[in-house]
Formats: sequence, C-alpha cells, structure tokens
Amino acid sequence: MNSEPKSDVSYTPAELLKSYIEWGVDETISEEPINWFYETDNIQIKQNTTSKTSSNTLNNTAPVSQAPLASQQEHIDMAKKLAANCKNLDELSAAILEFEGCSLKKTASNTVFSDGNVESDIMIIGEAPGGDEDRVGKPFVGEAGQLLDRMFAAIDMKRENDFYIANLLPWRPPGNRKPTDGECELCFPFIKRHIELFEPKLIICVGGTSASTLLNTKSGITKLCGKWQEYIMSGTTVPIIPIFHPDYLLRQPQFKKQTWHDLLAIKAKIGELNID
Ligand code: URA
Repeated sequence: MNSEPKSDVSYTPAELLKSYIEWGVDETISEEPINWFYETDNIQIKQNTTSKTSSNTLNNTAPVSQAPLASQQEHIDMAKKLAANCKNLDELSAAILEFEGCSLKKTASNTVFSDGNVESDIMIIGEAPGGDEDRVGKPFVGEAGQLLDRMFAAIDMKRENDFYIANLLPWRPPGNRKPTDGECELCFPFIKRHIELFEPKLIICVGGTSASTLLNTKSGITKLCGKWQEYIMSGTTVPIIPIFHPDYLLRQPQFKKQTWHDLLAIKAKIGELNID
C-alpha cells in the first residue's frame, strides 16, 4: 500500500480541480497568486516580470506598498478630474471605462455602469458588482438583484420603468470581498458625478458600504436603515434613505420585516413628492 501523499504533478486535472475546490478556491482571477492580506490600495501587481528595475513593479507573490499616499491621491485626483469633465452619462460611462487608476479593474471582466430607466426620478445605489454582474456587465442581475427586483415589485416599482440603478464601485472586488475604504474613496468621484448628472429626486442606498460612503458616516446600516436624510448635491438637497442589502436579507431573512417598513416609507415619500 502506498501511503505517500500525491504531489501536484501526479494529480489528474480532474483530481487537481477537486483538490482546489476542497481548499476553497472557487475562481481564478489571474495567472499569479496574490496575497490579499497585504494592503491593496497602494500596490501595483507586477505585470511584466522582465522589468525588475521599474519602481512600479513588485515581486509577484509578496506585493509591498510603494509611494503610498501619493499614488492613491494621484489616482483620486485623476478620477475627480475625469468625472468633473463629463457633461452627460454617456461621457461618464466612457470615462470610467478608460480609467486605469483602480486595481479592481484589472481583475474584473466588465465595467458595470447602470441599468433601469434613465428617465426616472429615483436612483438606487448598491455597493459593487458581484460575480453575475461582472459577467453580464449590469448591476443587480444575480440572486440578490432578483430579490431587489421582487422587493420593489412589492411596492409596484419595476426596474424598466420606475427606477435607475448603479453601484458605488463599477468593478467587482475579487471573490466578492467587501471593498476597502481606499477603493470606495477612489471610486467616489464617479458615483458623485453619476448622481449629479442623473439628477435624482430621491436616492435609495442599498447596504452599509453605499450608505456610509454616500452619507459620509461611520454608522452601520442597522443604525442608518429606514432613516431619511439629505444628500447635498451641487446646491440642492435630495432625500436619501438607506435600506438593508438584499444579499444580507438572503442570509438574515428576519430583517425583511424592517425592510418592508422601509419600502412602504419609500412608496409614501414618492407619493408625497409626486415623483416617478
Ligand atoms: N450587490 C451590489 O451591491 N450590487 C450589485 O450590482 C450586485 C450585488
């Protein structure tokens, strides 16, 4: 009997795949392993293994920070400038597509901009695309998105007619991890401009990351949800309400009751403001 463990080379491809799955590898995102426990905001992954002397290149398996704040700040400034120059949503979508300052773009398959009725007065803002959204290139098309559509259908609102939807981040964080504060800060100029150009009369932010970034607060979603606040946008204020993320509701259905109250409050506010 041979009790020796098999080395990788003696695995068949099917056995190797099975072993990866057992180890929790559920997707491949690049040719090289990346240690995500390192700070990701200020690193650039080595793209060209031959350019060892370049100050922007790093060892593949052990990324280290370099020119930390300057590089992040430069990218933020670039995002602000690009966004500010956009005169309409098409220009903004094109500008985001061209922006190379966010490392999330390197691992994403698609840049996810928006969906829904561009003529609507109501804007829903989620966190970031997940795997399904990344594949399809539209926000909220996976399981959580289907629940979101059912939630709004319960108050007679359909995505095609009654609302417009986008995300705080246009790129999927690898493995659907929570975006870092640095990533939110870097992408914020784009969603800020997106809101300005869309000119909503009511904003619904979905989930804690979207709520805390748009409202510039450290409070969590449990504290914020269902409470009307004001989003200040180039001289005007827009009512904004945070609600639980449908992904969270899928895992914690006991919070659906609270969300139902929030949806009814949204319906009432739409009537009060006489918007559509
Ligand atoms: N979760 C989000 O916040 N946005 C999506 O587009 C999908 C899932």
